[in-house]
Amino acid sequence: MTIQFKTETFRDDFTFSNSPEAIRRFPFPFDKDHYMYAVNIEQHMPGPIKSATEFPIDIDEHYVAEMADRSLVLKQDPLRCQSLPHMITAEWDLLELLMESMSKHYPEHFTLTKDGDRWHWINRPLGIDQQFTFGDTATLPYPPMEYVTRQCQGDFNLIDQRNDNLWMDAGIITSQADWSLDFDLGMNFMEWHAPVPIAHDIGVFDRALKFLLNLQQGRPVRRLNWTMTINPRLDTSPENYHKWGVDRTTVTPENVGDKVHLRVELQALWRLPRSNAIVFSIRCYLIKMEELVTIPKWARRFHRVLRDLPDQIADYKGTTRYRQTVVDWLAKHDDGAPTSPGF
Ligand code: HEM
Repeated sequence: MTIQFKTETFRDDFTFSNSPEAIRRFPFPFDKDHYMYAVNIEQHMPGPIKSATEFPIDIDEHYVAEMADRSLVLKQDPLRCQSLPHMITAEWDLLELLMESMSKHYPEHFTLTKDGDRWHWINRPLGIDQQFTFGDTATLPYPPMEYVTRQCQGDFNLIDQRNDNLWMDAGIITSQADWSLDFDLGMNFMEWHAPVPIAHDIGVFDRALKFLLNLQQGRPVRRLNWTMTINPRLDTSPENYHKWGVDRTTVTPENVGDKVHLRVELQALWRLPRSNAIVFSIRCYLIKMEELVTIPKWARRFHRVLRDLPDQIADYKGTTRYRQTVVDWLAKHDDGAPTSPGF
């Protein structure tokens, strides 16, 4: 399957948009007309052909533009990529996982050949041809996690497991929904989740942690998370809040369709073979309201979810200033028809 990579931006003039095919494969996250936090974890099994979950690592039309945006973020702020020294084995595990998956599922774009520890990686969309020795960092232009994730869509955390807890000890985070790797590095599962409302009280994080501590190699899992973003901006980090926070004040009834985006994170978790660490991938998908309402059942459902969202969650997701304007706009696309459970 040859992908036509788009030329587009996620900042300044914001030329990002989705093709009709990208809209069809958008991972719409709501299976009901209302939303509440839950341990919504399922096996990361292959989904339908052309869907965002057809392959374990999803590469799409935004690949080249997203990689250019990541490179800009890292140039301005190298602390978006950090790894504690004991995570180097996990970094190599991650490089192997991503290179093997990308070359297996997108062979026209990526090729990996191995001769013992001597590996040869070809990335055609980014024009990269690299020979290196697996396990020898000196043979790559960047450390292994940074090297491979500069070439793979999605943010990545490498999580160490010890003392019956999970520790955020490495990551490359350039397209996050308002949280900071530099702040969270070295924290454990409960500490980095501390700002989330409601979920602690209803036991979501206790159950999720218990589940993840038992994650098995070869049996990856996934979940969907969502928030909203004004303008198709990938880098909504606390570090850059002064650049994008003000955008939330610019939503009007006239520009909702173009400016307001649903932001969905397809998050997957793998147990890694050598390090016993866990990789947590956060693959971000953006869709503007005008694109979303081209699928009538999504328009109806999202209207109801946003209208009835508990205030604490709406606040945490940073939607309070513009939520009502979006709900009013979406109401015109909700004919009141009953929706069926599922996507
Ligand atoms: C939010 C990381 C796994 C549920 C967050 C945040 C981070 C994070 C950094 C933002 C917190 C903030 O506001 O500063 C991770 C990592 C995981 C992981 C690294 C992998 C080990 C999970 C799992 C669940 C979960 C398995 C399952 C229930 C949530 C929820 C939120 C959240 C509900 C709030 C999201 C929102 O409303 O937008 N997570 N998480 N996380 N996480 Fe996780």
